[in-house]
Amino acid sequence: MKSFAAAIARVLFVALVWTSQVFGQNEGSPGVYQGRHIAPVMGHQGAEWLERPERQAEERPDVLLEALKLKPGMSVADLGAGTGYFTWRLGKLVAPRGSIYAVEIQQEMLDMLATNVIAHGVTNFHSVLGTVSDTRLPANKIDLVLMVDVYHEFDHPREMLQSIYRSLKPDGKVVFVEYRAEDPTVPIKRVHKMSVAQVRKEAELFPLKWVETIETLPRQHIIIFQKKPTLPTPRNASPAQR
Ligand SMILES: C[S@@+](CC[C@H](N)C(=O)[O-])C[C@H]1O[C@@H](n2cnc3c(N)ncnc32)[C@H](O)[C@@H]1O
Repeated sequence: MKSFAAAIARVLFVALVWTSQVFGQNEGSPGVYQGRHIAPVMGHQGAEWLERPERQAEERPDVLLEALKLKPGMSVADLGAGTGYFTWRLGKLVAPRGSIYAVEIQQEMLDMLATNVIAHGVTNFHSVLGTVSDTRLPANKIDLVLMVDVYHEFDHPREMLQSIYRSLKPDGKVVFVEYRAEDPTVPIKRVHKMSVAQVRKEAELFPLKWVETIETLPRQHIIIFQKKPTLPTPRNASPAQR
């Protein structure tokens, strides 16, 4: 009887540890971060939607790319790159010496992306299979991280922003493109939208300085932050002063 009770206690303990590891980064209930409900990840089965012809008019990728002011030679991360809708467009803008890191957590997306990007004649890209908490981007290498319709579905937003921060060059930028939560006429479910205030609340928990919010797209905000240098530790500071 005693060993049965001990076994039950062990199972409960393991379940408790697992739950806290999986959901520990969220506040209160699973799926809520900084008062926001996290959206489910869009599966690769929905890939066709990313390539829909109406997207050109609905999201104006041309206007977005112009706002980013990219230059040849830059290293850009297309984080949550999906089918590569932006990867090949970005690749053309930074060519010939610049390159794109296309990061995904779904290998199926990366497979479609490679076919799509190469079909557009673009080869200056690296496919990166990340995890839900790690971009797996190289440290201090990236000029600009672009996330189009992605951040709101990060399962571990805090860890992802930490990982993004690490990947940026000292003056690197991170760009959030999110459907406007403030506008009820934008025909997207609430959980897939974000307000400017919420994006700023979450990003400014990190040494990221808000640069500007651009409202030239029909349905989405473009919200730009720049990496703030972390304060250098004074050379002669004793451990107690640090
Ligand atoms: C709505 S799709 C947008 C795809 C692309 N940015 C576009 O605009 O066409 C979101 C993508 O983000 C990816 N994603 C979600 N969480 C991620 C994470 N932690 N790291 C990398 N990719 C992620 C999903 O697999 C999905 O393909």
